[in-house]
Amino acid sequence: MRILLDNFTKSFGSLTVIDKMDLEIHDGEMIALLGGSGCGKSTTLFSICGIHKINGGRILFGDKDVTNVTSQERNVGVVFQSFALYPHMTVEQNIGFPLKLRKETASEIKRKVDEIAEMVHIEELLKRRPGELSGGQQQRVALARALIRRPDVLLLDEPLANLDATLRLEMRSEIRRIQQETGITAVLVTHDQVEAMSMCDRIAIMDAGRIVQIAEPKEMYNNPVSDYVAGFLGSPPIAFLNGQIQDGNFVEPNAGTKFPVSATIASSQAGRSVRVGIRPEYFQPDVGTMISGKVSFIEAQGRETLYNVTLPDGNILRSIQGSHSPVKIGDAVTWGVNTDHMLVFDKNGLRI
Ligand SMILES: Nc1ncnc2c1ncn2[C@@H]1O[C@H](COP(=O)(O)OP(=O)(O)OP(=O)(O)O)[C@@H](O)[C@H]1O
Ligand SMILES: [Mg+2]
Repeated sequence: MRILLDNFTKSFGSLTVIDKMDLEIHDGEMIALLGGSGCGKSTTLFSICGIHKINGGRILFGDKDVTNVTSQERNVGVVFQSFALYPHMTVEQNIGFPLKLRKETASEIKRKVDEIAEMVHIEELLKRRPGELSGGQQQRVALARALIRRPDVLLLDEPLANLDATLRLEMRSEIRRIQQETGITAVLVTHDQVEAMSMCDRIAIMDAGRIVQIAEPKEMYNNPVSDYVAGFLGSPPIAFLNGQIQDGNFVEPNAGTKFPVSATIASSQAGRSVRVGIRPEYFQPDVGTMISGKVSFIEAQGRETLYNVTLPDGNILRSIQGSHSPVKIGDAVTWGVNTDHMLVFDKNGLRI
C-alpha cells in the first residue's frame, strides 16, 4: 500500500512540529524516519497511524484520502517501544485479541494465530504469559499481534530500543525478513542509524520537523546533502575539519593542517571557508595525503580497531583499521587521507 503525505502539518497548540511535509512511501517499501530526539519522528508516525489528527495537508493510503479516517479504519499494525502486551493474557490470547474484538470465531482466530506464530517463530510460546518471556520473545509477540489483522501498513516506533545488543541484532533481521515475506509497507522510527541502514530500503533524515534528505542507505552515506546528514550516518562517525581553500589546498588556519583538494573545489571555493568531512575508513596508514598527529584514543572493537588522532590544531580525525596496528596512545603518527572520498561542505554545512 503506497502512503502519501501531502503538505502535511501537525501542531500542538502554538507549536508547529511538522511543517508542510511531503513524503511518498512506495508500496512494499520499508522506510526509516531517522533523526535526533524531538525532531518529529513519532509525531509523523502517529499521524500516519491516525492517533493524531493533522492540522493541514492530506494523508493518502493508495489513492484513498484517509486524513479524516479513524485509526481503527485505517488498517494499520503498530508496534511501539514498550510492547504493551496484556500481562494477564497468554501469548495466544494477546495475539488473537484484535480478531476477538472483531468477533471472529474461535476456530478462525486459532488458525490465524497459529499461522502468524509460525511466521515469527514463537509456536512453542503460545500458552505462556508475557511475564514469562524474554524481551526479544515479547517483541515477537507484539509484532505478531500487529500483523494478525493483515494490516496494509506496519508502523514501528523504536521497536528495538528496549532490547539488549544481541537481541537487537537478531530482531533487526527478523523484522526485515517478515516485512519482506509479507510485502507489507512499513515505516520504522529510530534514532539508531545502524538500524535504519540495515533494515530499510530508504531513509528519510529529519531535522526540526522537516525531511532534509531521503535516499537509499548507501547513496545517503556516500552523498549526504549536508554535514548534518553526513554526521548522522556512519559508526564511528565522520570527522570534520574547518578551514579555507587557498591556492588549491585546504588550510586549517590555526596550526597548519594543509592538504590539496580537487581542481573543482580549488577553483569554485577559492578563498572561501569550508568544512571537510573525512570518514574513518578513508584515514589510513600509508595511503593518500599524509597528515601528522598524535594518537589520543584507541578502542578495540573486536574485528576492527578505532584510533583517534589529534592534529596539531586540536581537531580529531578518526581511523578504523582491520589489521592491528602496534601504535599506542601518545604515539606520533603520519597517516593518509584519501581526498577522493573527502566530503566538502560550505560554511552553512551544505555539500559542495
Ligand atoms: N502530545 C503532545 N503535546 C505537545 N507537544 C508534543 C506532543 N507530542 C510531541 N510533542 C512535541 O513535538 C516535538 C516532536 O516530538 P516527537 O515525539 O515527534 O519527537 P521524536 O522525533 O519522536 O523524538 P524521540 O526520538 O525523543 O522519540 C517535541 O518537541 C515534543 O515535545
Ligand atoms: Mg519518538
